[in-house]
Amino acid sequence: MIRPAREGDAAAIEEICYRTGFMGEDLAGSGRFGDRKLFALIFCLYYVRYEIESCFVAEQDGKVVGYIIGSGRAGTCAADIDRRMLPRIALRLFAYTSWRHPEAFREVLRWRRHQGDGCPPPGYRALLHINILPGYQRRGLGSGLMAAFTAKLREEGHGCVYLETSNHNQKALDFYRKCGFIELARKAGGFWSGVDDFEEITMGLRLPMHQ
Ligand SMILES: CC(C)(COP(=O)(O)OP(=O)(O)OC[C@H]1O[C@@H](n2cnc3c(N)ncnc32)[C@H](O)[C@@H]1OP(=O)(O)O)[C@@H](O)C(=O)NCCC(=O)NCCS
Repeated sequence: MIRPAREGDAAAIEEICYRTGFMGEDLAGSGRFGDRKLFALIFCLYYVRYEIESCFVAEQDGKVVGYIIGSGRAGTCAADIDRRMLPRIALRLFAYTSWRHPEAFREVLRWRRHQGDGCPPPGYRALLHINILPGYQRRGLGSGLMAAFTAKLREEGHGCVYLETSNHNQKALDFYRKCGFIELARKAGGFWSGVDDFEEITMGLRLPMHQ
């Protein structure tokens, strides 16, 4: 079942974010980024707390196993995330992560160095992130979430949506292409330590207004 997300889904969304957080693969037990809460603060909790009306979840057997989160205000979203989340991220980072999970602390500093300007591609006002728990992928849930999210965007008058992924996430690339996304830009750079040849790929989808 695909349904709009609720604030009570936050813990499940955190878990899914972490279990798919290493370029689509599971961070649990990987020896990387042991601080799950910090990972969620950086990558998903902004949307749950401040743009919940844009989020949908996939539920199976009463359990939330997937989500699609995003924003219809991509132009201001990066600044909003900084304003609302950075104080919490910084507090956790220096008061806890730095001594308890030093590898995660170093990774965040690295991400900060490689961070882009957060500007959406020209003409794009909506962005998304989609993640399905391992064990529930390839059952049509991603397609269902994408359909719900893009239908809502169309209702709101959006004509397109974009996302960012990487050359190391082949299943996401295959999924997005199947959904009709095309590549808009590709930028070499470093993200995860120890991952060579990393390219950040921006993809976009035009939304037909009458379906
Ligand atoms: C990418 C992801 C969201 C796809 O969701 P999903 O529920 O598994 O996808 P669906 O079952 O709806 O697949 C729809 C189509 O996408 C393509 N596809 C999906 N997963 C694929 C895979 N692993 N390999 C090849 N094609 C794939 C197929 O064409 C599929 O249609 P088919 O099953 O009829 O062949 C999911 O695999 C996932 O969450 N991965 C981990 C997190 C992640 O990488 N998120 C994206 C970060 S940028």
